[in-house]
Amino acid sequence: MSLPAKVKIVEVGPRDGLQNEKLVVPTDIKIELINRLADAGLSVIEATSFVSPKWVPQMGDNAAVMQGIKRNPSTIYTALTPNLQGFDGAVQAGANEVAIFGAASESFSRKNINCSIAESLKRFEPVVSAASALEIPVRGYVSCVVGCPYEGAVDPQKAAEVAKILFDMGCYEVSLGDTIGVGNPATIQRMIEACAKHIPISKLAGHYHDTYGMAIANIYASLEMGMAVFDSSIAGLGGCPYAKGASGNVATEDVVYLLHGLGIETGIDLAKLAGIGDWISSAINRPNGAKAGRALCTGNE
Ligand code: HMG
Ligand code: MG
Repeated sequence: MSLPAKVKIVEVGPRDGLQNEKLVVPTDIKIELINRLADAGLSVIEATSFVSPKWVPQMGDNAAVMQGIKRNPSTIYTALTPNLQGFDGAVQAGANEVAIFGAASESFSRKNINCSIAESLKRFEPVVSAASALEIPVRGYVSCVVGCPYEGAVDPQKAAEVAKILFDMGCYEVSLGDTIGVGNPATIQRMIEACAKHIPISKLAGHYHDTYGMAIANIYASLEMGMAVFDSSIAGLGGCPYAKGASGNVATEDVVYLLHGLGIETGIDLAKLAGIGDWISSAINRPNGAKAGRALCTGNE
């Protein structure tokens, strides 16, 4: 199969990236990050999450972030919403889109959102109905699609089953999360194959953390299967607070370098992106996790 001509990147750095930072990142830095990302051509930015601040204190300034952004008309600003309370907060703060997030592993579901998979899916139904009434698109996430920090390897059928329920419920796109970055091209392709039996590949996205350094290879393997939407995080920021040891998402700079090298269109200015990765890494005092980003900034292209 030929590779897609165009790919959509969903930038999750301001949410997935920053949610795991130990020190509270000032709200104005978060806002500047989002504004700069939009300026570099990112068309979808997951800006924050409307989760309980007791669970993830770093996202406690969700409304201030969402309301403080300078809106770029060509960018969609989205937020995670685990329940109706979160959905209401996101809508009031002006989110253009929301995301519900389930898991393919029972243990992870309980640790992350304090309920079983079945309970979470019940809880998402009113969120999807409320969103549909307001014509707000809903994205679905499935975590632990190939591996779980508590249960080990995950059956591709389980990932496909949860993905199908989210899609049938009304999610316009389902993002498949390798939450702890244990997947490789073989396990990722098997998992996508199982999901694509129920959901068109054009409605599936890859969300790969880079713990074992496989994320770029996994994206290539996914492109080969026709997938054309990927989540990534500027400077490779992040990790999941409820998945011990998991590192950040694949770095957006590395993904864009790969895609442009393959002649795939993204609409993103890579030079600007590399500068943003460098800036945010020093602003929050952390090494820049983007290999392509570091190389571009030191002129080693
Ligand atoms: P719970 O404790 O079972 O909730 O948490 P509850 O309904 O019993 O409420 C308890 C308290 O939380 C109440 O406050 C509620 O008002 C409050 P109190 O009366 O005690 O003062 N509360 C809220 N506050 C603000 N916003 C809300 C909200 N809901 C309840 N939306 C809950 C259940 C889902 C809320 C909690 O477990 C939670 O917030 N979990 C989020 C965890 C999280 O954010 N994890 C990281 C994101 S997921 C991820 O990173 C994976 C992903 O990237 C994909 C991948 O990599 O695989 C997406
Ligand atoms: Mg994630």
